[in-house]
Amino acid sequence: MSIDSFLTGNEVTFHDDDIIVSKTNLKGHLTYANKLFLEIAGYTEQEVIGKPHNIIRHPDMPRVIFKMLWDTVRDGNEVFAYVINRCKNGDHYWVYAHITPSRDMNGKITGYHSNRRVPQLDILNQTIIPLYRQLKQAEDLADRKQGLLNSENLMSGYLADQQLAYDEFIMTVGQNQRRGYR
Ligand SMILES: Cc1cc2nc3c(=O)[nH]c(=O)nc-3n(C[C@H](O)[C@H](O)[C@H](O)COP(=O)(O)O)c2cc1C
Repeated sequence: MSIDSFLTGNEVTFHDDDIIVSKTNLKGHLTYANKLFLEIAGYTEQEVIGKPHNIIRHPDMPRVIFKMLWDTVRDGNEVFAYVINRCKNGDHYWVYAHITPSRDMNGKITGYHSNRRVPQLDILNQTIIPLYRQLKQAEDLADRKQGLLNSENLMSGYLADQQLAYDEFIMTVGQNQRRGYR
């Protein structure tokens, strides 16, 4: 096992009022990380700036969620997602992320911005963790390409059953109403 995939199983939490912030360029390389981002992930600014954002990727995250995230922000739209991240020492932390494109004066996308808050425990345990487990399983059962297709199909089926688009699902799942996200 490489040092980068080592996991302790230890969950790190942060305060309800805290916001973990990062910004990236168009390629997803970090251009900014706030103090809390660095503290919780256990990196120095020098270690993360210029690095791909997957520096904090946790192996339990289904690839389909990142694909959907990137497709949405590249199209110029905002996206909300629950994400489990890996700290440098192998600990992990869950976040509820809001990711938006940043634009210049002409409206051209120049990079991306993410604000992350504490996720609601009941939503995580009842909805997100079981869903992500299924998606990840679908991805791991086949090769990279087919695995992603399987997982996309599973996610589409899950949303179709509820007659919801992804953004509607994430809004109705509860976090937004309670936290007053706009
Ligand atoms: C603004 C922004 C914030 C992101 N935040 C995270 C994050 O907190 N954790 C994460 O694993 N990936 C995050 N990503 C997605 C990564 O760029 C990447 O797609 C993901 O880690 C999967 O990496 P992989 O494709 O190498 O497996 C973010 C992307 C953007 C544009």
